[in-house]
Amino acid sequence: MPGQPARHVPLIAPSILAADFARLADEAAAVKGADWLHVDVMDNHFVPNLTLGMPVVESLLQVTDIPMDCHLMIDNPDRWAPPYAEAGAYNVTIHAEATDNPVGVARDIRAAGAKAGLAIKPGTPLEPYLEILREFDTLLVMSVEPGFGGQKFIGEVLPKVGTARRLVEAGELTILIEIDGGINADTIEAAAEAGVDCFVAGSAVYSAEDPAAAVRSLRERAATASRHLTL
Ligand code: DX5
Ligand code: ZN
Repeated sequence: MPGQPARHVPLIAPSILAADFARLADEAAAVKGADWLHVDVMDNHFVPNLTLGMPVVESLLQVTDIPMDCHLMIDNPDRWAPPYAEAGAYNVTIHAEATDNPVGVARDIRAAGAKAGLAIKPGTPLEPYLEILREFDTLLVMSVEPGFGGQKFIGEVLPKVGTARRLVEAGELTILIEIDGGINADTIEAAAEAGVDCFVAGSAVYSAEDPAAAVRSLRERAATASRHLTL
């Protein structure tokens, strides 16, 4: 409706994978105003890279008020995901490819007080998971192969966003749709137009001279691009 504010307020989640790991408290402070702080947990098994785990997340939770969005790129989330929720993460996302029991893990995460997210890799179809998405709060559509920051955005994943968006608009799902990988000033508009609610951005935020300003600028671009949508 003209003149009506969009119901669809874009959230920006800077990924600290692109931050200086020796100065994580400062790097969290540098994105003041961000909606979520995206923390990539990698175990060198599910993905060929190793980052950080519970001790670092617990320390980070002490130094920032930004809701923490833990993206677990790990095997056996059944065992390892609930502690992130217990520690105080806002949203805990597991990979669909990493467990045979995603619903059980989602229930454990929610029971421990966090929102539960389901992530799918670029080559993973959405359809097999549509039924179980009602057990989740967020859907994370990966737009790069998980494991590393600074990769090129894979636009071919956007139809999955569109499918999820339509189901949300039809009232069949109440998830928030998140995208992760290669999001920057050039790619965020296409993602916003497809119906993304929450945009993870690592290098685009932390390579900027003023990361907090980069967050605001990405949010503005996403808001402008999605304004015409009847969401
Ligand atoms: C990749 C991670 C992303 C990564 C995004 O496996 O899940 O969160 O930090 O980094 P950019 O925005 O640089 O692609
Ligand atoms: Zn991530």
